[in-house]
Amino acid sequence: MFADRILSGMRPTGKLHLGHYHGVIKNWVQLQSEHECLFMVADWHALTTNYDDVAVIEQSLWDMVIDWLAAGVDPAQATIFIQSKVPEHAELHLALSMVCPLGWLERVPTYKDQIEKLSHKDLTTYGFLGYPLLQAADILVYKANQVPVGEDQVPHIELTREMARRFNHLYGREPGFEEKALAAVKKLGGKKGKLYTELKTRFQQEGDEAAVEAAHALLQDAQNLSIGDRERLFAFLENKGRVILPEPDALLTAASRMPGLDGNKMSKSYGNTIALREAPESVSKKVRAMPTDPARVRRTDPGDPAKCPVWQLHQVYSDEPTREWVVKGCTSAGIGCLDCKQPVIDGVLREQRPMFERAQKYLDDPTLVKAIVADGCERARKIANDTMKDVREAMGLGY
Ligand code: TRP
Ligand code: SF4
Repeated sequence: MFADRILSGMRPTGKLHLGHYHGVIKNWVQLQSEHECLFMVADWHALTTNYDDVAVIEQSLWDMVIDWLAAGVDPAQATIFIQSKVPEHAELHLALSMVCPLGWLERVPTYKDQIEKLSHKDLTTYGFLGYPLLQAADILVYKANQVPVGEDQVPHIELTREMARRFNHLYGREPGFEEKALAAVKKLGGKKGKLYTELKTRFQQEGDEAAVEAAHALLQDAQNLSIGDRERLFAFLENKGRVILPEPDALLTAASRMPGLDGNKMSKSYGNTIALREAPESVSKKVRAMPTDPARVRRTDPGDPAKCPVWQLHQVYSDEPTREWVVKGCTSAGIGCLDCKQPVIDGVLREQRPMFERAQKYLDDPTLVKAIVADGCERARKIANDTMKDVREAMGLGY
């Protein structure tokens, strides 16, 4: 069993490019072997901004999953699923909406930013205001404790933490908590129940942390406890409310800024991308057309790599000797810009080759992709449904 459960998501709003690969997916691939991972296609989130152009979502969705698989996300290790196929997200979103102060949503920095940035769209909708709350539901419905995200998403994780805290505060002390906890102690059995009570007393009278640890181990091993009872006893031990929804942490990816074809950050909105599965001829063409140091008008003019976007790609794709060759050749006009670009082209193609290979089998047989996703949705639903049972009960909807 893994200690951490990781959840992350991506909106299906267009083709993935190498910026997504270096910034996000490479990290997912690393995480999947070390932790329990759930990777979600956030189609409802895509709808919050794309409600007037829904076709893009379905088009992007399957391609995006193939891109994930091509990049090395392994369905044998990670759970790949679609948000809208797990309606528990919507149910938790609604439940949380009952206790989410409006101000918390209006204060999220991305809210006003995006409304301004996407001013051609009317985003003064209920759904868009609730975007971060839906994201909180995505995370909390799996009780995920780590969420890999970029810097821009940190306020959303903060809101998720605040919502979890508020929810636990309001509903963690269910009616009859004390009696239920005592009944759960009985269920532990005579010997274990007695030991639990002793450890609890030791902690509460002497503040003995070792007693807490011992009690945690005891509860962890107690096979006959339901999840609800186990959590009750954790809370009872330290006289806290029951943690129904645990607070997650943001797992910040080391900001790997992937440069685009023009030297700016690679991004769809700048039109400077190389697709994850861009055809090799097109890669060559795009790199060959890249702007270089404007001082190199003629082949004989020396240049300065620091002023050249191609040089930034050398940082990603070239080894030390190649980079030395570039600096020397550029500053002395010893090499031409097309010579200089060739190792970058080779590097991108080298990176993409295994992706094309992995993607082929899914392109040949799209039912494989559907089966992977169906399986992932089923696994996700099981977890989500367990959480919702607790949530419904805690909110007095257990009938
Ligand atoms: N809002 C995220 C983004 O734009 C996507 C997302 C939706 C997400 N739900 C999530 C990310 C849950 C992490 C966890 O990138
Ligand atoms: Fe840029 Fe290379 Fe040309 Fe120098 S030689 S300007 S680094 S492309």
